[in-house]
Amino acid sequence: MSHIRKIAVFTSGGDSPGMNAAIRAVVRTCAYLQVDCIGIFRGYQGMIEGDFMPMDARSVNNIINKGGTMLKSARSDEFRTKAGRKKAYEQLQANEIDAFVVIGGDGSFTGAIKFSEEYHVPFIGIPGTIDNDIWGTQLTVGYLTALNTVVDAIDKIRDTASSHHRLFFVEVMGRDVGHIALNTGIGAGAEEILIPEEDLGLERLLDSLKRSKARGKSSSIVVVAEGDRTTGKNVYELKEYVEENLPIYDVRVCVLGHMQRGGSPSCTDRVIASRMGVKAVEWLLEGRTNFMTGINENIIIATPISEAIKGKTKLDKELIRISDILTV
Ligand code: F6P
Repeated sequence: MSHIRKIAVFTSGGDSPGMNAAIRAVVRTCAYLQVDCIGIFRGYQGMIEGDFMPMDARSVNNIINKGGTMLKSARSDEFRTKAGRKKAYEQLQANEIDAFVVIGGDGSFTGAIKFSEEYHVPFIGIPGTIDNDIWGTQLTVGYLTALNTVVDAIDKIRDTASSHHRLFFVEVMGRDVGHIALNTGIGAGAEEILIPEEDLGLERLLDSLKRSKARGKSSSIVVVAEGDRTTGKNVYELKEYVEENLPIYDVRVCVLGHMQRGGSPSCTDRVIASRMGVKAVEWLLEGRTNFMTGINENIIIATPISEAIKGKTKLDKELIRISDILTV
């Protein structure tokens, strides 16, 4: 018999499509197992301020298909302070909350670890970020939807690029890693892909663009990960550099930005989020704490959060190899 009678759930950091499906799964699993559930608005900031709402199975009607997060999200500076975490603990105590599920990325998990070191409140993390940059899971909630959103956007850019015989630099999100760039670059048929994990080099980029002209390609798309520092230039500087060194190209820049985080989650994201939400509650009731739900070979696995925040899921080097072949 578990001593946990009330579980809180919240989303923290950058939102991602599928967070609502994860919230729904946590709330409904609590209802199914007859444990009280509290939603916390605005992540850790809401925890500090006591911005709580009791939730039952009906509180999460009609959200599985919605992007964003019904509980809102925030990055809280106050929670980084000892005083902020003390206030948060007092709010949990006052509301008789025994454990929590945090849906977010590595920053949110780091906060949870710090908090549990000080106050020993059991928690489970669900990886929710479009970046897919968390160790211990092959997929984070929202990543696959973001890939589709980006490919859809690049397909549209391709229409105009080919109509005007232009070269586009398309910057995509991903923070410090190139998962989104590499996969969407292949999926959208980009000429080149610039990612932090692989130094293409400016010379090779120019050579490749020259070659593609010589091979009769009239337009090109280069996907650039926002975290790429390998060329020492941002997308706007790359545009200038290419225009100076390869005047044959008429270059444009498109920074996709936050549209990548929005939209209705894909079916797979909804299923992953649902599976993780159920496990998070089951694990808490089994007495597990400080773990992250992950998915590996289609099985839900548990990784200690302390390990999850240390590493990053590695890029598949085979994808880098095939992207070189396919731009021939
Ligand atoms: O972590 C998700 C993410 O969208 C990153 O890809 C991006 O670098 C960052 O969040 C943007 O953060 P913000 O919404 O605070 O501008």
